[in-house]
Amino acid sequence: MSRTLAILKPDCVRRNLSGEVIARIQKANFKIVALKMVRLSKQAAGEFYAVHKGRPFYDGLVEFMTSGACIPMVLEKENAFEEFRKFIGATDPKDAMPGTIRRDFAESKGENIVHGSDSPENAEREIGFFFSEREIVDLQ
Ligand code: RTP
Ligand code: MG
Repeated sequence: MSRTLAILKPDCVRRNLSGEVIARIQKANFKIVALKMVRLSKQAAGEFYAVHKGRPFYDGLVEFMTSGACIPMVLEKENAFEEFRKFIGATDPKDAMPGTIRRDFAESKGENIVHGSDSPENAEREIGFFFSEREIVDLQ
């Protein structure tokens, strides 16, 4: 079992798609072991996506991620980060495979419904960004 961090982004929460997306996550056999709702500050969103600082889309990304509530969650599955990236699809919904979350729900590359960690190292860092170890449920 490994862990990854997912975030339902503000477009997902605003469009009342959270329940539907969570149901699909569970049907795909990801186990939710932590979940909360937060409104990110500019500083927190900037820090979370610090790797993109200086890119042309960075300011818009921070603006978007602070525009409403986010729902971060910790997911467990074998090969969690890879499986979840496959499940959500490519960054731009136009490039995402049919049946993926972004293809089915996202309206643009900027507003693409969901975040997924892109490596085991980033998953650990990103989980620690939102959750302390005692907020993560032990299902074993
Ligand atoms: P994420 O980190 O949110 O899971 O997305 P990702 O790995 O698929 O894409 P990444 O390259 O890490 O970009 C982070 C987020 O920035 C926004 N973005 N907009 N308009 C653009 O060209 C553009 N490029 C990236 C998206 O919200 C993307 O998910
Ligand atoms: Mg990324």
